[in-house]
Amino acid sequence: MILVTGGAGFIGTNFVRDWLAIESEPVLNLDKLTYAGNPENLAALRGHPGHRFVQGDIADRALLARLLREHRPRVIVNFAAESHVDRSIHGPGEFIATNVVGTFALLQEALDYWRTVLRQDPGFRFVHVSTDEVYGSLGPRDAAFSETTPYAPNSPYSASKAASDHLVRAWHHTYGLPVLTTNCSNNYGPFQFPEKLIPLMIRNALAGEALPVYGDGRNVRDWLYVADHCTAIRAVLAGGAPGETYNVGGGSEMPNLDVVHTLCRILDELRPRDDGSSHEQQIAFVKDRPGHDRRYAIDSSKIQRELQWRPQHSFASGIRKTVQWYLDHQDWVQHVVSGEYRHWLETQYGATGEVKP
Ligand code: NAD
Ligand code: TYD
Repeated sequence: MILVTGGAGFIGTNFVRDWLAIESEPVLNLDKLTYAGNPENLAALRGHPGHRFVQGDIADRALLARLLREHRPRVIVNFAAESHVDRSIHGPGEFIATNVVGTFALLQEALDYWRTVLRQDPGFRFVHVSTDEVYGSLGPRDAAFSETTPYAPNSPYSASKAASDHLVRAWHHTYGLPVLTTNCSNNYGPFQFPEKLIPLMIRNALAGEALPVYGDGRNVRDWLYVADHCTAIRAVLAGGAPGETYNVGGGSEMPNLDVVHTLCRILDELRPRDDGSSHEQQIAFVKDRPGHDRRYAIDSSKIQRELQWRPQHSFASGIRKTVQWYLDHQDWVQHVVSGEYRHWLETQYGATGEVKP
């Protein structure tokens, strides 16, 4: 049995579905079902004997203690987090509560379980899924982030993830808990909530709405197809050394504007606008994000060398699959674009929810 937290969110959903398609070991999936967690993501697993879902908070220590003793997982993979930078700017409290206090609670209960029930079994693993954003922002010619790059988080989101990474590290160093941390670049693919760049642009393009590009659109991110992130986590679980951290990236650095142009071109081909013009004419430059990190880039040579992991998708193949998935799952998009989602658009993009250049 493995315990996955946050397994109803974007990456967690992909991880759980992939795991159950490949492995025979069951999954206990603990998720609070915040706005980002969607039980519909797991509908295909209804009745699956290897999947057990529990709605709950990683900060609930009594619940964690009970679940760990009842199910005796040999592994914990921690995806549960508040994950959206813009939301962290509007309301950082939840980020501290889940990413910092929640991770602390999970570590404490994992440690107690490991010591008392598992009697310090060296095969136990606590994998903490983190982000490249903890390293801060790069200049155009700076070397990519490596595992030894000093932490310099700039947003409430990245600061809360950095804090959680430090706690995870300390629980290994001080108590010997067999932890591993992954720091991954921007993911994209099926089931991503349409508040993040790629699914938001696809949704808006299809709805005939503006495509809101922050600032000059020259901020650079490295993009990794989500299935490749899942294989990296499985590789770390199977072969990673406790106490180590692994940077995971797609080797696909790109300015945001290039990502948006690529999406427009694919949509022009697969779902042309009625008037025959390109979706590119929907692009609108809007006010920049405060403290917007300029560039992220990942050096993933350690995981490639030590665990023989490689991404299987190029950006070109992954983005096409992703657009096709959103086209095939418009009902999913309609369901998640609920009242709460409209409220978010109003908070972030203006009073009417319409994008203001
Ligand atoms: P997401 O926001 O889509 O999903 C987060 C999930 O966690 C949701 O299902 C939510 O209900 C759940 N959750 C939130 N608070 C919880 C709590 N207190 N207790 C239990 N469950 C809770 O996020 P994601 O994009 O899938 O990211 C997953 C993890 O990967 C996060 O830790 C994130 O920091 C990290 N990460 C994400 C990316 C990316 O590009 N999305 C890149 C690198 C790392
Ligand atoms: P996002 O998907 O929020 O991920 P992150 O901030 O964690 O990297 O944003 C990716 C990039 O796209 C980031 O530079 C901000 C930019 N962006 C826009 O230009 N417009 C948008 O509407 C959104 C959501 C993001």
